[in-house]
Amino acid sequence: MVGHYPVMLQEVIDALALENKQVVIDGTFGGGGYTRAILESSNANVIAIDRDPEAIARSSAIKDEFKDRFVISHNTFSNIKDVAEQHNIESLDGVVFDIGVSSFQIDTPERGFSFMHDGALDMRMSRDGITAKQVLEEYSEEQLAIIFKEYGEERHSRLIARKIKEEIEAGVSFDTTLQLANFIDRLIKGKKKIHPATRIFQALRIEVNQELEELKQAIDDSLKLLKVGGRLVIVSFHSLEDRIVKEKFIEVAGKRKHVNKYKKEEVISTDGKPVYTNLTSKVLVPSDEEIKENVRSRSAKMRIIERIA
Ligand SMILES: C[S@@+](CC[C@H](N)C(=O)[O-])C[C@H]1O[C@@H](n2cnc3c(N)ncnc32)[C@H](O)[C@@H]1O
Repeated sequence: MVGHYPVMLQEVIDALALENKQVVIDGTFGGGGYTRAILESSNANVIAIDRDPEAIARSSAIKDEFKDRFVISHNTFSNIKDVAEQHNIESLDGVVFDIGVSSFQIDTPERGFSFMHDGALDMRMSRDGITAKQVLEEYSEEQLAIIFKEYGEERHSRLIARKIKEEIEAGVSFDTTLQLANFIDRLIKGKKKIHPATRIFQALRIEVNQELEELKQAIDDSLKLLKVGGRLVIVSFHSLEDRIVKEKFIEVAGKRKHVNKYKKEEVISTDGKPVYTNLTSKVLVPSDEEIKENVRSRSAKMRIIERIA
C-alpha cells in the first residue's frame, strides 16, 4: 500500500509559526506527516487526534522516536476540547486540521471510499456507526435526495434517490462500491466531465462521517482554545468544507474590506479590539509543482486564523 503524501506541508509548518510554541494539536493524524514535521522543525509537543483505529496503530514509530513530546488520542476532532482537558491543556499554540480521507483510506478497497476499486460500501472512518450501505437502505427517498443535493450538490438528486429506493424495494442489495457506481453510471446519461458517481460518493461519505458537523464544532472549540499568538490552520478539499471555514473566519475576525457588513458578527474583546485576525483573506492553494507530484492535492485549500487578543 502506498503512504500518504502530506498536502501543502511546508505551507502548514510556516502557517503554524512554531518558534517558541509549546503545544500543538494535529486534529487529523492520518499518516503522521504533519505531526512528524512539527516535531522535527520545532520544540513543540504534539497531541494528535484521529478517529480511524488504523491511523492510531500507525503512530507507534513517531511515539518511539519522540517519546513524551507526542501523544495520540483515538477520537473525533469535534471532541478537541475534551482531548485537551484529558491532557491537562488549557490553551493551545496551534491547531491544524487536514480534513478528509487519507490515501491509506482511499487506497484500501474494503474501506469503501473509492469506486476506482471494488469494496464493501462502508465509508466509516471510525469503523463504527452506520455504513453507506445502511444509509441507502434505512433513509427514506426524501432523506437521500436531500443529502445527495446538499452534500453532493448533485443535480439529479431526486432521480437517483428514487431509483436507488426502487431497486432496494425490488430486492437489490447495494453491497459494493462498484455496484453503486455502475448503477449511477447507467442512470445518468449524457456528457460527463467527472464520473457520475463522484457526487453521490461524496454525499454518502459526508453523511456517514457527519463531516460538516464535525468541522463546525471543531472550529468553534479550537478558536476558544487558542492562546494569544496561537493559530488555527485548516486544509480542506471541497467547496462545502471551505465555505464553512471561510464563513466562520469572517464571522469571528470580520472582513477587513467590508467591515460594516460583517462588523456585527466580529468577536471583539472588552477593550473593543478584535480577538482574531484572518491571515488568509485570499485562500492558499498548492503550488503547480506539488500538484504535478501529487495530483490528489489539486483541490486543497488552506486558511489560517490567529488569536490576537
Ligand atoms: C487527509 S488525512 C490527514 C493526513 C495527515 N495530515 C498526514 O500528513 O499524514 C485525514 C485524516 O483525518 C482523519 N479524520 C477525518 N475526519 C476526522 C474527524 N472528524 N475526527 C478525527 N479524525 C478525522 C481521517 O481518519 C484521516 O486519517
